Order: sequence, then C-alpha cells, then structure tokens
Amino acid sequence: MSETRFWDRIAVKYAARPISDMESYQRKLDETRACLTPDSEVLEIGCGSGTTAIAHAPFVGHIRATDISKRMLEIAADRARQAGVENVAFEQVEVGALTADDGRYDCVMAHSLLHLLPDMDAAIAEAYRWLRPGGVFVSSTICLGDMSALFRLVIPGMRWVGLAPFVRFVREDALVGSLERAGFAIETRWRPSRNKAVFVIARKPG
Ligand SMILES: C[S@@+](CC[C@H](N)C(=O)[O-])C[C@H]1O[C@@H](n2cnc3c(N)ncnc32)[C@H](O)[C@@H]1O
Repeated sequence: MSETRFWDRIAVKYAARPISDMESYQRKLDETRACLTPDSEVLEIGCGSGTTAIAHAPFVGHIRATDISKRMLEIAADRARQAGVENVAFEQVEVGALTADDGRYDCVMAHSLLHLLPDMDAAIAEAYRWLRPGGVFVSSTICLGDMSALFRLVIPGMRWVGLAPFVRFVREDALVGSLERAGFAIETRWRPSRNKAVFVIARKPG
C-alpha cells in the first residue's frame, strides 16, 4: 500500500519535528485528560511516533496505539521504552482493518488522521461502535477544505511527486456533521486559527 510506504519513508523526519504550537498541544492534552481515569481503556488510531499515547499513558489503564506504518511504530515503541511506559501496546493495523468489540473503549483518539482516510465517515462510525456509552472520541483534524484554495492546487502536485500523502479536503462543518450523524454529541470544539487543526471531543451518549 503506497500510504504505508509514504509514512514509513518520512517517519524519522516526522518524529524529529518539534511540536509547532506547544500551548495548543498542551491544552488538547489537558482537555483529553479531564475525560480519562486511571482505569481508562484507550484506543488510538494513527498514533504515529507515539507522542500523545506516551503523554497520556501515566493517567490511564491501557492504550492500544495503532498505525499503518511499521517505522512509525518502531520509533514509538523505542520512545515508550525510554520513557519507562509499559501500558501502551503498539500495533500495525490500518484503520479499515482494525477490529474491536463493541463498547470496548472509554476513549478513542485520532490526531491528524481523519483527513488522511479515504472514508472518514466509516472510521467515525467505527469509533462510535468501539466506545462504551458515555465514552469519548477525541480528534484533531486538519480541515484543508476551509483553508486557502492554494492548498487545493499545490497538494495534488506534491502527492504526484511523493511529497504528500493521500489527503481529503475536509471542511469543519462536514466533520461535525459526520460526528453528529454517527450519534456523537460535541462537547468541545476549537481551533487555534483557520490554518490549524480542529480539536473536537465528541461523546457517545450514556
Ligand atoms: C500526520 S501523522 C499523525 C501522527 C500522530 N497521530 C500525531 O498526531 O503526531 C498521520 C499518521 O497516520 C497514519 N495513517 C495514515 N493513514 C492511516 C490508515 N489508513 N490507518 C492507520 N494509520 C494511518 C500514518 O502512518 C501516520 O503515522
């Protein structure tokens, strides 16, 4: 699968990149953490190099952190080992192939992922099914559909030469519509600026 190859190829560079907006990232961690307990069972899809899973690990029971890229997962597992984190299980699986029992998780996270999926609606519906009633789906999504038209011109060319992955031009209202259609109630929704990711905490009614 070419997406796997793309993310494997850029994994080392991606992992070395510093977090661009630490204040917003910390706010996202704090708002997520307010939904978690020491017993929480968490699933992360598209965990990348593991930064967020490792940050939440001390505050939950267990995290199943998944990604399609073996290289990203190797970096994530190394980082977890170095941080002494033992309650995160890293697993190579594509979102569309991931299986879990209905109602298994207290929290499902998808950061910088939904806009990369061919079928965002299906992934959101799956997350709803995997959550227990009262559980939360926490996501950060780059809504390229709301950004400058320049991106729409430039990205297909970048993809053609292997410099960009598959991306969908998601709009924030479409994202929220998809979450609501799946059955979620939006509890938190903000983005630091128009060109930054939309952060949403969406709850499955209890
Ligand atoms: C932009 S990175 C985000 C990584 C991490 N969540 C973060 O916030 O830093 C996107 C990640 O999603 C993974 N990914 C892309 N498509 C995927 C898919 N269909 N199923 C699972 N993971 C996928 C990539 O391998 C990559 O690690």
